[in-house]
Amino acid sequence: MEPVIPDLRAHTRADAYAELLQMQTLLLDDANDVIAAMATTAALVHHAFGHLWTGFYRVVEPHALLRVGPYQGSLGCLDITFGRGVCGMAAADGRTIIVEDVHAFPGHITCDPRSQSEIVVPVFDASGALLGVLDIDSAMPSAFGDADRHGLEALVACFARATYVPVPV
Ligand code: SME
Repeated sequence: MEPVIPDLRAHTRADAYAELLQMQTLLLDDANDVIAAMATTAALVHHAFGHLWTGFYRVVEPHALLRVGPYQGSLGCLDITFGRGVCGMAAADGRTIIVEDVHAFPGHITCDPRSQSEIVVPVFDASGALLGVLDIDSAMPSAFGDADRHGLEALVACFARATYVPVPV
């Protein structure tokens, strides 16, 4: 039986991410499959914080196209071109983007109208190539800050350490 994902909303973000990192390390110990690791990471983060949407967009055409991968929450759009929306911008720039108010972000792509704020973290493989992005939407404004950036970047660092099989396109 798999462990129950704890509700970490009452914890400091730093403590919460430390606990999630520990769980992720145990759960993905033998993993060599990118999709399995993305699915497990999305489930951990989504249920620990009660986000609106938590998931991955995978690079299916380098420098050109992202396609939805494992996620939790309401329906996400399927394809996002590099440079479009928060995900496409984070992919094009290879850096984390925190959006306090999605309505004030030019080009934001609305998948769920309840979304108020968002964080998108790039995911790199062991060679430094961009595998995709981790995208999280919250129904609360300004839900994300530097503790989330640090915690989520630490969680997706597993993709750069492990010897994962390539992403199927
Ligand atoms: N809001 C994202 C699109 C993906 S959904 O939120 C799941 C964006 O602007 O890139």
